[in-house]
Amino acid sequence: MRAAGGWPLILARVFGLERERPLLRWLLTFVIVMGAAALLAVSLTTRFTFDIGPVFFWTVVTLVAVALPVRLPGGMVAHLTTAPLVAAVFDTTLPNPFAVACIALVGTIELRDLRREIPWYGTLYNKSTYVLAAVAAWASYAGTSPLVRPGDPLGIVAQIAIVGGAFFFVDTLLALTLASVRTQTPVSRVFALSVRNIFVGLVSQVPLGWLMAIIAIEVGHWAALLFMIPLLLARYSFSKYTETRELFFGSVSALSQAIDAKDGFTRGHADRVSRIAAAIAREMGLPEKQIEQIELAGLLHDIGKIGVEDRILMKPSRLEADEQELMRRHPIYGASILEPSAALRPLVPLVLHHHERYDGSGYPEGLKGDEIPLGSRIIIVADAYEAMTSDRIYRKAIGHDRAMDQLTKYKDVQFDPTVVRAIDQLLSRRGPAAFESSDLPAINYETLAELRRRLARAPVSRDAHAG
Ligand SMILES: [Fe+2]
Repeated sequence: MRAAGGWPLILARVFGLERERPLLRWLLTFVIVMGAAALLAVSLTTRFTFDIGPVFFWTVVTLVAVALPVRLPGGMVAHLTTAPLVAAVFDTTLPNPFAVACIALVGTIELRDLRREIPWYGTLYNKSTYVLAAVAAWASYAGTSPLVRPGDPLGIVAQIAIVGGAFFFVDTLLALTLASVRTQTPVSRVFALSVRNIFVGLVSQVPLGWLMAIIAIEVGHWAALLFMIPLLLARYSFSKYTETRELFFGSVSALSQAIDAKDGFTRGHADRVSRIAAAIAREMGLPEKQIEQIELAGLLHDIGKIGVEDRILMKPSRLEADEQELMRRHPIYGASILEPSAALRPLVPLVLHHHERYDGSGYPEGLKGDEIPLGSRIIIVADAYEAMTSDRIYRKAIGHDRAMDQLTKYKDVQFDPTVVRAIDQLLSRRGPAAFESSDLPAINYETLAELRRRLARAPVSRDAHAG
């Protein structure tokens, strides 16, 4: 990998960043330098007053807000700091913009910063993000203030939207970019995972911040503390979102493991199909919501095998014609297993049609070409590729190149040519490592036979007095 040269490298050395990837190093250095420059600029342009009370107040409120983080999927952490920082921008008793920049710098110090749980340049990046967002918000406030007449509701609402928008945009964009570069995940993916579902909750902190400032000015700063109650409610809803999502993905993984545990020959197959299908879908530029559905359907595509008799499912040799006929019912069983669940119902068509063929000779309905749902066409290719590139008890894996030859040979017959082109592009660009990343929890694969053996060895009453 080529190292970035010139002043960024010198700065990277100063910051001790030279071991990070070039792109991450660039981003960290750039934002930290911009944050420091913004702080210096506002310190030179502010006329200082000596009333430290309001500065102290907002710093403490921000410290309380930052002490209550919510970890979101996708490597991001949500905070309630937007409300007090926006309040500090609108608080006319502060010697702004220097005061708001200082509150953003000192008020956002977290316990993990003091405990050195993240590298110190990570801490500096986060602080720079807050400083830049606060300064951008203040600049929007200063720029729009001459245009807003006192008591003009439309003008005030527009100003709140512009100031809040500036804060939110800079803060969220920089946080998303770092999470994206650090985890090597597209920004759209991080956004879909972490921000999209709690977007309204995050944005609603902006008018709340404005209200806090007005109450602080009109009634007294103490009164703004009452707004901690709606802030804590917002935090509760953020954490509920994360919990619900984890519960849902955990249940889907458990279902997927159930079939994997039973069918010892294809251990981990569903998990890998899911990752491959998601990577192809992303390569094809599908929206994140659809990619997530395809990922889940990939995990559950063979769930209907639970309904296939063990003597057929576990038969180590080739199936007879009548056995094959029974095996071919598994997509229908799968669809009927998923149908009753409202959350899993969108996956039903994808699971039902994962054995159709592009020329219409597949099962269960013999759909042809575009009649087959796109998600199924992607899972069909992922399923075939995974089966060819992993060992089975009755044959060895054939390797990536030969697997691609087979996919190319049977495009238009068995596979959708667009999907084959997408997997080909992906593999030639990134190699088999293209399928490594997934935000699904890692699965511990243990076949039912292994589980039985393990439990047979363990004493039956082992957990009786455990707790
Ligand atoms: Fe299947």
